[in-house]
Amino acid sequence: MLENENQELSGEIDDMENISSNQSKNRPFDDVLKASVSRRAMLKGSLAVAGASFLAPAAATAGRGHGHGHGWGHDNDNGPLVGFEPLSKTDAVAAGGKTVTISPDYEYQVLIPWGTPINPRSGVPEYTGDPSTRPTAEEAEQQTGLGHDGTWFFPANLRKALRADMRIYRHLKRHPRAYHLKKKMGKWPQSSRVGMLCVNHEYGTNDHALGKSAPETLEDVRLSQAVHGVSVVAIARRWRGEWRVIPSNKSRRITVNSPVQFSGPAAGSPLLQNAANNEPQGTVNNCGAGATPWGTYVTCEENFNGYFGATGAWTPTAEQDRYGLSTGGFGYAWHEFDERFDLSNPDYANECNRFGWCVEIDPFDGSHKPVKRTAMGRFKHECVSFLPEEFDERAVAYMGDDQRGDYCYKYISDKAWREHLLDGESPLDHGTLYVARFDEGTDGNDGMGSGEWLELSMNNPAVAAEFNSLDEILINARVAADAAGATPMDRPEWSTIATDGGVFWTFTNNDRKDDGQGELSEANPIFENKDGHIIKTMDTSDTTFEWSIFILARNTRAEDPMTDFGDLPYAAYTAPADGGENVFTDPDAAWADPFGRLFIGTDGTQPDGLQDQMVVFDVETGEYKRLLMGVASDEITGITTTPDYRTMFTNTQHPGNGDPTVTNFPAADDGVTIPRDCTLVVTRKNGGVIGS
Ligand code: FEO
Ligand code: CA
Ligand code: CA
Repeated sequence: MLENENQELSGEIDDMENISSNQSKNRPFDDVLKASVSRRAMLKGSLAVAGASFLAPAAATAGRGHGHGHGWGHDNDNGPLVGFEPLSKTDAVAAGGKTVTISPDYEYQVLIPWGTPINPRSGVPEYTGDPSTRPTAEEAEQQTGLGHDGTWFFPANLRKALRADMRIYRHLKRHPRAYHLKKKMGKWPQSSRVGMLCVNHEYGTNDHALGKSAPETLEDVRLSQAVHGVSVVAIARRWRGEWRVIPSNKSRRITVNSPVQFSGPAAGSPLLQNAANNEPQGTVNNCGAGATPWGTYVTCEENFNGYFGATGAWTPTAEQDRYGLSTGGFGYAWHEFDERFDLSNPDYANECNRFGWCVEIDPFDGSHKPVKRTAMGRFKHECVSFLPEEFDERAVAYMGDDQRGDYCYKYISDKAWREHLLDGESPLDHGTLYVARFDEGTDGNDGMGSGEWLELSMNNPAVAAEFNSLDEILINARVAADAAGATPMDRPEWSTIATDGGVFWTFTNNDRKDDGQGELSEANPIFENKDGHIIKTMDTSDTTFEWSIFILARNTRAEDPMTDFGDLPYAAYTAPADGGENVFTDPDAAWADPFGRLFIGTDGTQPDGLQDQMVVFDVETGEYKRLLMGVASDEITGITTTPDYRTMFTNTQHPGNGDPTVTNFPAADDGVTIPRDCTLVVTRKNGGVIGS
């Protein structure tokens, strides 16, 4: 059975490989990108990669393309970069928060709503939102979960292409003058019609998942646990353009009860062992995600603390306090029925240290045990973005810790990632973790400055003064970052790589500085920052960077812009050029394409009767437009495209917060059906590149 399924998927893959994805007669991708030759590559000199593009398209290089020289990706036309007609405020508000609305130039399809069987041949029924019932825990473990968040599309033939590239790389090591082979690297067409979609299921409240505010049995807890985690689902596009789930033995659910493994410097730490001697299990509160240059999915564990609680006497350690662990958690009450999550149970005293990690998943091997990469540190990981190989041959990852007053982190592997792999080890196990300090720079309060990446290891005296060993530092990375002197930020959310190798970081909001949560600084310049902002950083060495504020979301409002900066390119304009028509706040999800667009998904009450939305920037001009808007009480998050950039997958998360009187999306408005988190497959009506 499994073999047949595999053959079906491979058969589709083979068919797809014969289809040219270049169906336009438009300007070649190369022309579009000529202007974006890497400043970082120049800065880094010899570190810049000789073979400029390894597998440039989205899935291979964490979505940043940057594919100088690959021959099949094309932008849409010679018009403006963000040329679509925006979804107007009037049309968006008219939807009343009941249904998703989109630009008149675009359309969307709903895919894998909560309760979709991940394998169509499994016989597991779909849960369609009937309020009188819920799936069993056993069914839910074979269905997509709730809280669709970080998402990545891995083209079906990616692994084959990566293997071919690695063969060329090895040959080039032996025959460095074989320049003609360098040109072949990254030239492998990748399917934009078949692949594995990895989707994080960050959370679903008890009310949404169980239909009641608290679990009453272990079975209730198991259902709640099963709607959390990750879905890895094989999907394919029909000839008419619609996407569907297809059978595959690669598809699977990963939940908080799935076997996992630890790797890296802290893997053997006593702080990760319990008296109960239980095997490591599970991942939870999977927020953002990224893809490694070697074609794996990295899911980020964010608010893991909310799933722990105490049934008996328990006093938090200073470290547990720093990570927000508490007696009641977020109300999931797992600890009342599942002893692993009971902080007062001495047999599981270190279970909480097993969460808060980046977890690597092989999307093409359904039996591969997810790996918790301890070298990348333990904090409330929001998201991870990997620098494409053309900017650095090493694995370089940028990561935010989403809490008011928490920090931005970076990880750099010791060697080129290909060398680590050739040595039979993971690039994510051998490297250095850093945390960011944002300094004012030389020109005072001008919304830009310099910064330092502070090493979190025993090499840093400020950290070594507080810790005994690297494993303690990595497991308590927040505490080490405090000691290092990192800059508290206004909730670091997603990071994404710009076409020049810089990094866009979203900071969603922070209006609690008066409570001592966070600090006013030049990089966080609004004391009551209700609307959030976006910063761009550019590394100038492994340990230094420059930064500038890209936009203060408050300045997209028609009124009350912040003007007391100098001559910032975008942040300083006194009123939005569109009179506030495309206003947005609370930037959260972020994805930059290789053409110079920046896509932002929002999470927070939007102004003027709007719901959470996605806006698209031209990062050169600063112009931005509304692409789509979600339903009431949802969040738009997770942004990924196919390698041809013509199909986008994004998500509406917690529509209506699960309340059918608010919305029934994706079902028609009936006031009864439970709204379900789902993926939105977005395409341009003329078949063009997303955002054009
Ligand atoms: Fe998972 Fe910070 O949003
Ligand atoms: Ca400055
Ligand atoms: Ca988020």
